[in-house]
Amino acid sequence: MIDIKKIRTDFPILKVKINGKQLVYLDNAATNQKPQVVIDSIVNYYSTFNSNIHRGVHTLSQLATDAYEEARIKLQHHFNANKSYEIILTSGTTHSINIVATGFTSLLNESDEIIVSALEHHSNIVPWQMLCERTGAILKVIPMNLKGELVMSEYDKLLSNKTKLVFVNHVSNALGTINPIKEIIDKAHSIGAAVLIDGAQACPHIKPDLQALDMDFYVASAHKLCGPTGVGILYGKEVWLNKLPPYQGGGEMIKEVTFEKTTYADLPHKFEAGTPNIAGVIAFGVAIDYLNNLGFDNIASYENELLQYATKKLLQIEGLKIYGSSKNKTAVISFNIGEIHPYDIGAIIDKLGIAVRTGHHCAQPIMDFYKIPGTIRASFSFYNTFEEVDLLYDALLKAKSMLC
Ligand code: ALA
Repeated sequence: MIDIKKIRTDFPILKVKINGKQLVYLDNAATNQKPQVVIDSIVNYYSTFNSNIHRGVHTLSQLATDAYEEARIKLQHHFNANKSYEIILTSGTTHSINIVATGFTSLLNESDEIIVSALEHHSNIVPWQMLCERTGAILKVIPMNLKGELVMSEYDKLLSNKTKLVFVNHVSNALGTINPIKEIIDKAHSIGAAVLIDGAQACPHIKPDLQALDMDFYVASAHKLCGPTGVGILYGKEVWLNKLPPYQGGGEMIKEVTFEKTTYADLPHKFEAGTPNIAGVIAFGVAIDYLNNLGFDNIASYENELLQYATKKLLQIEGLKIYGSSKNKTAVISFNIGEIHPYDIGAIIDKLGIAVRTGHHCAQPIMDFYKIPGTIRASFSFYNTFEEVDLLYDALLKAKSMLC
């Protein structure tokens, strides 16, 4: 059970006033808020053991290295990776995807095909388009239906012996649809294709078991999981990470350097050139502990109650249309009111202290599918309340009356 009153005291930002009103933060799909333990962990690192990792014999460097590597092991256990070195620490989901997309340049040729879905964020479209430009491979798209779900019968038709890679998000950032990733992975594997799952929007709500799901690559960002920005993971099966070349050259990713030839470090360091976000990685581990203490089942069931309540309440507003009505959804409501531009509503309700995202949500193909410029997106987290849903409802009525 979620003790919402107690949980809210863990998040200092929830006390902040915006334009003289109490903040109602409903932009959690963009980034969620940080509990005090995560903020304290960053302050503690810089105040007591700031030092570079894997480089020094001195005590501070050892402390920092141990804390950094402990965080990697926490992440391995949380996501259930087989080996800790299959967890590559990156600057976030986009960085992780680009490591894989760039790495596949030498592994594809002109007759190969890559499949993405119509529900992807730009970060899971553009790197693959760039890969196709470099290799001549062809990009195919699993279409979506009006409910915002993937049309799985079309996926079956796209799969062939030319398919080398399949890239799909677990949850759509723009609509909240939860995609049937196990089915997608198993079907891709049956024809020998590798699969990357973008977990950025799912991992705050659903704890994935990477070994059970059996995807080849999984990517996620700390800042959607109550951790800091600028940190993320790339999980890859050992066999794949060994096949891919390094993404960046630099310190820490080498075994031996001469002007004639350089050999690369073993996993995970081969993909971790340069000084990483040490404080951020350590804080990511703290955030994971915080969420696991709450329990992902508790989080999902409370957020689902919020979603059901908010959906019913918002649909009482005349002219309000929700985009994405799949039964399998996280707590995201993407909507418009009549012909009013989403930006105008977002700006007015901001004056009332309510933070939502407006626009195309970095998913323009979804907006094109619905023939709209964008939506207003309210995305909920486990620290949101039913009262905040009511405040959103009141604010939308007010905005509507001002704009109609
Ligand atoms: N991908 C993030 C979002 O959906 C930024 O808002």
